[in-house]
Amino acid sequence: MIEVLDESALEEILALEAQGFPPTERWSAESWLSEFSHGNYVLGYREKDLLAVASFGRPEGVVDLRTVTVARNHRRQGIAKTLIRAGARWAAQQGAMRMMLEVSQVNDGAIALYSRLGFDGLAIRENYYGDGNDALVMELALADGVGV
Ligand SMILES: CC(C)(COP(=O)(O)OP(=O)(O)OC[C@H]1O[C@@H](n2cnc3c(N)ncnc32)[C@H](O)[C@@H]1OP(=O)(O)O)[C@@H](O)C(=O)NCCC(=O)NCCS
Repeated sequence: MIEVLDESALEEILALEAQGFPPTERWSAESWLSEFSHGNYVLGYREKDLLAVASFGRPEGVVDLRTVTVARNHRRQGIAKTLIRAGARWAAQQGAMRMMLEVSQVNDGAIALYSRLGFDGLAIRENYYGDGNDALVMELALADGVGV
């Protein structure tokens, strides 16, 4: 079940992210709180426990897919695809024409997911993460109302 999350889900989100990202790449509690206070759109996927989270920026023509994480034991079940599609529908309804994201060029799984959803590679940002890894900028057109 997809739900819109608020600050009350902070502890669950932090626990989920701890499964998805190495410590240096995880968002802190402060980062998540600022995500909420800036009015970004945070979607969760829950079956009793929170199994996934995705965050989308405020749509201003372009909407940023800021992060997506799925619990380790629930991957490859279509959950990320479902959450991103829900975020794309919401953004299109808010008038966004494109969704954009940055993904580490070494994150093959995430790049495969985004390509499967129809995102195209747009540019490379060198050493974007400060660890020598480059980011691939990807874009999805939402012009037909949904896009995915
Ligand atoms: C990347 C991630 C979000 C994918 O979530 P998911 O729920 O497993 O993805 P889905 O099941 O919706 O995948 C949909 C399609 O994307 C592709 N895909 C997803 N993960 C893949 C992987 N690891 N390897 C290859 N293809 C993959 C497949 O085509 C998949 O369809 P299929 O299972 O029918 O072959 C998840 O692996 C994760 O949380 N990783 C750690 C955090 C992260 O890297 N987030 C992205 C950067 S912000």
